[in-house]
Amino acid sequence: MSASTITRVLLNNYVPSGSAKISDFQIVQAPAPTKEQLKENEVILRPLYLSVDPYQRNRLSGAKESYIPMYQKGQPISNSLVATKGQPISNSLVATVIASTSGEFQEGDLVIDGGGKWETEYVARAGAIKKAPVYPGINPRDYVGVLGMPSFTAYVGMTVVAEPKAGETILVSSASGAVGQMVVQLAKARGLRVVGVAGSDDKIEYLKSIGADAAFNYKTCGSLEDAIKRAAPEGIDIYFDCVGGELLDAALANINEFARIVVCGAITQYNLSSGEEGYGVKNTLNILIKSAKMQGFTIGGYFGTKIQGEFIEHVSKLYDEGKIKYRMSETVGLENGAQAILDLFEGKNVGKSVIKA
Ligand SMILES: NC(=O)c1ccc[n+]([C@@H]2O[C@H](COP(=O)([O-])OP(=O)(O)OC[C@H]3O[C@@H](n4cnc5c(N)ncnc54)[C@H](OP(=O)(O)O)[C@@H]3O)[C@@H](O)[C@H]2O)c1
Repeated sequence: MSASTITRVLLNNYVPSGSAKISDFQIVQAPAPTKEQLKENEVILRPLYLSVDPYQRNRLSGAKESYIPMYQKGQPISNSLVATKGQPISNSLVATVIASTSGEFQEGDLVIDGGGKWETEYVARAGAIKKAPVYPGINPRDYVGVLGMPSFTAYVGMTVVAEPKAGETILVSSASGAVGQMVVQLAKARGLRVVGVAGSDDKIEYLKSIGADAAFNYKTCGSLEDAIKRAAPEGIDIYFDCVGGELLDAALANINEFARIVVCGAITQYNLSSGEEGYGVKNTLNILIKSAKMQGFTIGGYFGTKIQGEFIEHVSKLYDEGKIKYRMSETVGLENGAQAILDLFEGKNVGKSVIKA
């Protein structure tokens, strides 16, 4: 049964630089779509859980050139992260089918939509969604959580880029977040010594509870370079970078010979426009002196590849067996979703930020 009105989250203003504000979004009510309006092979979806991610900041900027499409003024923001092969498998939104003209989907089916809109009900093409596969111990919100895009990013970063070896030391920034908490646990499972960095004492406690050998609060530790030295006196072999900026510099000052720097994100730089000067990293000479490697990657290129299947099989099993924890920060109500995006930049989330629609 469809509600008569729905809530939509629209982009109100482009935000080329600086912090986004709540007034850059608009929350509106609109008539709900009806089954009668559906064309052949369409469905009406009601989102249950939506992923909230730092990359969405970039999509607010209105930049003419970007690795990702911009949100459009007056249009709903979305979770669309479509795979290179066109397969909608980013696990960024999980929804229930509430009406269907497709033989493939029935009312009540749980589906994943890689192009899902921030609306409490919307029409989708049957070809653009997929049924949520059933795994033991996996609940609907886990599709955007432990099996979601950031968790997969952690897996790819550790498996494809980091080249971890047992006994090595890894430093992880934004370590209690969606990507970071999974990196910490995957690294522990591979026999590494893990040092986590995060922005509050509660987050540090959480990191210790999921196995970090050492952790420090970058806001209160004093010199970052010294804090890393204290936490990793033997030096660091892998830096899993989610933040860029000053912490990257401090990490580079502490790397061992043949270190790997995994460039996953640079959230300290996301509020700067492309024309503005970002943080100038100073310790790049250490990459040469230590014969280190620095490699970036974007997860979009891995959707639909063999490694995604491996990730789901491996991580869902560990999660079902209780060997992996995956904390989430849940915002209730899609009307509060825009604030959840802003909160990421204030560090208010512990674990993966999701909206319960
Ligand atoms: N390469 C890829 O394909 C890919 C895919 C997904 C995510 N990423 C990137 O990975 C990083 C983590 O993403 P996530 O989804 O796991 O987010 P997250 O860590 O769950 O949430 C963002 C966190 O960033 C930290 N933060 C915010 N502003 C900061 C600042 N100015 N300086 C330092 N830390 C700051 C805050 O934690 P604290 O309280 O600890 O500061 C905040 O909680 C982001 O840079 C994201 O863009 C990359």
